[in-house]
This record gives sequence, C-alpha cells and structure tokens, in this order.
Amino acid sequence: MMKTKLFIMIITLTLISAMLLSCGTEKSSISKKNKSENSLEKETGISLDTLPLNNVSPDLINEDEAEEKETKDEQTQESGETDEETREEEDPGEPAVEVGADGITRVNGILVANKTYSLPEDYAPGVDPTANAALEKMFDAAADDGISLWVVSGYRSYDHQYNTYYGYVARSGQAEADRYSARPGHSEHQTGLAFDLNSLEQSFGETAAGKWLKAHCHEYGFIIRYPEDKESVTGYMYEPWHVRYLGEDIAADVFESGLCLEEYLGITSAYND
Ligand code: DAL
Ligand code: ZN
Repeated sequence: MMKTKLFIMIITLTLISAMLLSCGTEKSSISKKNKSENSLEKETGISLDTLPLNNVSPDLINEDEAEEKETKDEQTQESGETDEETREEEDPGEPAVEVGADGITRVNGILVANKTYSLPEDYAPGVDPTANAALEKMFDAAADDGISLWVVSGYRSYDHQYNTYYGYVARSGQAEADRYSARPGHSEHQTGLAFDLNSLEQSFGETAAGKWLKAHCHEYGFIIRYPEDKESVTGYMYEPWHVRYLGEDIAADVFESGLCLEEYLGITSAYND
C-alpha cells in the first residue's frame, strides 16, 4: 500500500514538473518574437500593430539589401544626381561651350564666331598662318586639276567689318543685311580663319571652281561654312565662296556628317535682339 502511494506521488510530481517546463519554453519564445518585432519597428518607424507582417517590404526585412539601398541613396544624395541625370551628363552630343580669358568662345575646343557667339572688339589676330599655309596648299592642288582659286577677302578687323556691315545696312536695310553680312564682332573674317574666294555670287557654286571647292576643301582643312538650305541654322544665306579653316581631321568629319558647323556642334546662331 505504501509502495502504491509512493508510486502515485512520483507520477504526480513528474507530471507537474513536465507542465512547468513546457510553460517556460513558450514564454521565452514569445519574448524572442517581441524583441525581433521591436527592432524592426525601430529601424523602419512603421508600427507592426498596423502592418501585417506579410505586407512588410522584403527590402526592410533583408538587412543586406536594405543596407545596399541605403548606401546607394546616400551616394545619390551626396552627388545630387539621379541615374538619369548622370546619363544625360555623359551624352556626347552636349556641346562644351567655353569662353576663354581672351573673350573667345570655343565649343568642344573649336573657335566659334557666329550670331550667338561674338568676338571682342580688340581681338585682332590677323591671318592665321596655319590656315594660310593650308590655303596655299589647296590652291596648288586646285591648279594641278586645272582650277584657279584666289582670295577676294580674308582677314577683316572689327572696324573693317563695322564699315562693311553698315554699308550693307544703308544699302538694303538691317533685316536684309543680317542675312548675308555679320555685325561687327560676329564675323568669322575677324578670326583670321575664314576666306572668301573667287566670286561673291551664289552662281559660283555651279562653276567648275565652286564644285571643286565643295568637293575638296575638307582635304585641306576647310569647310563651306554657309551651305545651301541652312540659313535657318547658320543665320546666313548660301555662300559657296566662304571657307572656314578647322584643320583636316575636323573638316573631314564635318564634311562626312553632311551637317553645317552649328548642327555639328549642337549650337545656335541668332542675335539676342
Ligand atoms: N558674310 C559673312 C557672314 C560675314 O560677314 O562674315
Ligand atoms: Zn566670308
């Protein structure tokens, strides 16, 4: 009888300790879950009471990804650029316009004088010796092909251009003069890199000399600066006689592109007024 009582007591004690143990495990697993929920709330600032766990963005749960996103966001904030803006800046078509201490504008390194970009009144370089040597070489090559080329007008100072332009204004009015003559400070002739050859008539383009010039001048570093049908871009009527020195590589590139210089550089040619 004593043995049976002792046996029942042992069984009862075993059952009670088993129950107590199971209770303790459940408590500790609840507190673990609360800890992880609390740290997520702290990181995101979102109360999990109002957000079902299956709606939490995987970005917020995956710490590696969240950190990566954070670093990227920080970099974007530092540079102040989005991916799209970075791509725009790398666009090779965007012209790099620089005005030097001498007041001369260079676009992608190329000296530009047109209706938008002017030259200082005191800029008086004279004829560019490299352009002049290239011109003589071209004249010799033309002569070898039976073509005679000569200079009608080369370097013109600011004052010279002033007299030329206002002479045309007096004759045909400003609106008409602006179509074929540059205002003082806006002429390529003031750069020493431009030359008018043979004849200041548009019919020159149809002569053997005009055709030879159009086909070959790039081989010597020149372009026909004001081509036919480009008045709305260059700002000037067709001038088959006006060549501009750019150097052989750039001139060949412009020639092959079929573009006028403004289109090639992505710039305008228009007066402010
Ligand atoms: N005829 C050109 C546009 C000039 O005057 O420079
Ligand atoms: Zn000219």
